[in-house]
Parts: sequence; C-alpha cells; structure tokens
Amino acid sequence: MNKVPIDSPAPANNYSHSNLGMPKSVPPPQLPLGFFAIAALALFADGILGVFLGSRVVDNPTGHLAIGMTHMFMLGVASMAVLGAMHQFIPVISAQKLRHPQLSYWGGGLFAAGSIGLATSFLLEINPMVVASGILAVIGVVLLVINLSKPLMVKGKGISITGARISSIMLVAVACFGITYAVDRNAHESFFALSPNLVIAHAHIGILGWLGISYVAVSEKLWPMFMLSHRKSNRSSQIAIWGLAIGVTIFVIGMLASSTAIVTTAGVIILIALGSHLYTLVSVVSKRRRKLELLQGYVIVSAVFLLCAIGFAFAAVAASPGSQLRTQLMAAEIVSLGAWIALAVIGHAHKVVPFITWGILRASGVKFTRNNKPLVFSDLLNPSVARASFVMVASGFTLIIVGLATTSGVSFSIGSAALALASVAVSSNLAIRPSRMLSHFGEAG
Ligand code: HEM
Repeated sequence: MNKVPIDSPAPANNYSHSNLGMPKSVPPPQLPLGFFAIAALALFADGILGVFLGSRVVDNPTGHLAIGMTHMFMLGVASMAVLGAMHQFIPVISAQKLRHPQLSYWGGGLFAAGSIGLATSFLLEINPMVVASGILAVIGVVLLVINLSKPLMVKGKGISITGARISSIMLVAVACFGITYAVDRNAHESFFALSPNLVIAHAHIGILGWLGISYVAVSEKLWPMFMLSHRKSNRSSQIAIWGLAIGVTIFVIGMLASSTAIVTTAGVIILIALGSHLYTLVSVVSKRRRKLELLQGYVIVSAVFLLCAIGFAFAAVAASPGSQLRTQLMAAEIVSLGAWIALAVIGHAHKVVPFITWGILRASGVKFTRNNKPLVFSDLLNPSVARASFVMVASGFTLIIVGLATTSGVSFSIGSAALALASVAVSSNLAIRPSRMLSHFGEAG
C-alpha cells in the first residue's frame, strides 16, 4: 500500500496553469468548501448515530431510526458534497457564473438546516417537524437550482452540462416527492397509503436520478482531467446519462402503477446505463497517462459497490415480496448505492479540495513551501492519512452493508465508527496543512 503514490509530482505550472488563471466564472472558494465541510460533519454525525443505533436499525431497516440515518446521509452527506462539486465545476465547464453567490449561501444554509432537521425529526418521530424541515429543504433546493440554472442553461457545452441539468431536475423531483410523503405521513396517510413502492420510487429518484446522474456527468470531465486520459468519443457517458434519466423516470412510473412489466423494462434500461458508466471507467483508466493513484483506488472500489448494489437488487427481486429478507436486501442495495457515491465523492475531494486550497494559498501569495520548492497539490495533504482514510471508508461501508444483509448490529456499529473516524481523518487531512501554511505565511508576512 505504501508504494501507491498519492499524487505524481507535477510542476505547479504544468497542472495548475489553468487553475491559476481560473475562469472568472469560478465561484468564491468558500462556497464549495462550505458544502464539503457540512458533508464531513454530517458523515461524522451519521457515523456516531450508527454506533449507538446499529442493532435497532438492522432489526428494522425501514423504521424511523433507519429513515433518519438514511436522510442524514443522503441529504447531509451525499447531496451536500455533490452540490459542492456542482458549484465548483458547472460554472467552470460552462464558463458562466452562478446567478448570485448569495443565493447559494442562503440555499445551502436552508438545505443544511432542512437536512439535519429532517434526519432529527425522523429519529425522534416528530411528524410535524418532518414537514417543517422538509419545507426548509425544498426551499433550499429551489434556491440552489435557480442559482445553478444560469450556468446550466448555457448551450453547446457537452454532455456534462446536459447531465447536470437533468440531475438538478431530479433533485427538485425527489424533494417534491419527499415533502408530499411527509405531509401525508403527518396526516396519518389520509391522502394515500405510503406503500413500499412509493418509498422505493422516491429513494431511486434521489440516489440514481440526482446523485447518480450528477456523478456520471461530473466524472465525464474529471476522470480524463485527473487521469490525463483522452477518449475519442464520450458515447458511453451519453448512454449512461440518458439511460439513467429515461430508466429512472420509467421506473418511478412502474412503481407508482405497481406494474412489474414497466419496472422490469426500466430495470433493463438502468442496467445498460450503469454498464455504460462502468465501461467509461474501464476505458479512461486503461487509456490513462499517469501512474495508478489513490483516486483510482477510490473510483474502482466505488464501482465495486455499484456492482454490489446491482447484485442486491437482483436478490431482492428474487426474494418473496413483503418478506424480511427482501427488506434487508433492499436496504443493502440502498446503502451500496450510497457507498458508490460516497467513495467517489471522498476520492475526488482529495483532488478537488487541494485544487481549491492551492488557489487560495497562491492568491494569498504562498507560492513556495518552507523548503523553497514551488507549492504543488501533494504538499497540501498527508499521503499516509489519505491512504488510511481510504481503508476506513471502504471497510466502514462494507461492514455496514454486511450488518444490514445479515442483521448484525455489531458489524453495522463498527462500520459506522469507521466512517465517523474517516470523516475526521479526511477533513483534518485536507484542512490542516493549507491553514497552517496560510497562518505561517501571515505571521512571516
Ligand atoms: C426534501 C427532501 C426530502 C424529504 C422531505 C424526504 C421525505 C421522505 C419520506 C417522508 C420518506 C418515507 C418514510 C417512510 O417510509 O415512512 C422518505 C424515504 C426515503 N427517502 Fe427521502 N426525503 C427527501 C429527500 C431525499 C433524498 C434527496 C434522498 C436521496 C438522495 C432520499 C432518500 C430516501 C430513502 C432512501 C428513503 C427510504 C428510507 C428507508 O426506508 O429506510 N430522500 N423520504
């Protein structure tokens, strides 16, 4: 493990020329960093919850405790981190500024308050608070999407922007489904029965439609950039993005109509789309012009969790409807999809955050390290801590999934503890060195 270089040394100007001259459309660094910081905090909170609630969650994966932890992760961790990446990259890819950074400070703040409120109110089973927090989250989502809509509406900027447009629509859709369910729940399901089909539909709009398509769209640009890999065609990314968009839409219709035929058709389309996304990964990694790095480790293990999710989905379909086994397998599928996104996000954060902090340091005049070498990205984090974090995140999710699939509360709790530890390791590893350099430089100045 120690032989894997954290980042092939590259002179600052080779890699960072464009970063130095970052397009004017890039938002202030505290915006994406703010989203990432909240995501790290939420991961820590969810990990700690998992340590204490593990045995009760695995015994009832659709109970209010599980739903609370699910929303702390899906909104507080995954959605926050993906929104951070979208705010950093969409203005760069489309060379168009956000409508107004203020809108995202407000939107992000409301979404964060709504996410934590939603998770807490599910955990404490306070239904009116579920509705109130849901409303905050929905308003936050609307403000964020309005702000992102300006760079998202730029024409002719390729499949990444198209994908991000679709995933933003899916974010609004999942939030609207969620708030509708919350109101119905608060009214003791007097408007409609909140059947498992409805919940599964909502869950997959969120995980595949919003988070999944966002990841596929952003990775279409990031993978070739970070792996110095050039592909002649991005056909496989187009199939992945449009396949997920059409597949998830048909899947939701099939679930709402309880039609096995429609759901099966959707399942096939989604499988082709995910297969195409995995094909993109294989072709980018095989054509790379850089040595294997930690990022590939994260991205490949993330893809393994995606394959696990597909396996659990098949097993769940094969299990008898309404059985405890099907519920456990569905829960394992949902968490495996969460792990797919989480490892991808944390892996890319080890590239994106140094990318941003390097810009901040350079802009503050910090151009050299203490040994007078030009400052490069790999100076901004500790490679051993980064490798240890990778092991903690990968084993943490594995233990949680094993805990859910086998109703082992101990496995779930140990896995949760590993994720809580990883969130501290990752965030301190990405923050300590740049802030030390900045304060040292300030003192020296
Ligand atoms: C405004 C935001 C949201 C609200 C108000 C909301 C509300 C809800 C409600 C009321 C349920 C049904 C709970 C039950 O079974 O009684 C639910 C389930 C679920 N939601 Fe959300 N949701 C929101 C956003 C999201 C997002 C963005 C995701 C994923 C990215 C998500 C993933 C899930 C999952 C996986 C479940 C099933 C949980 C389980 O059975 O353990 N939700 N949500």
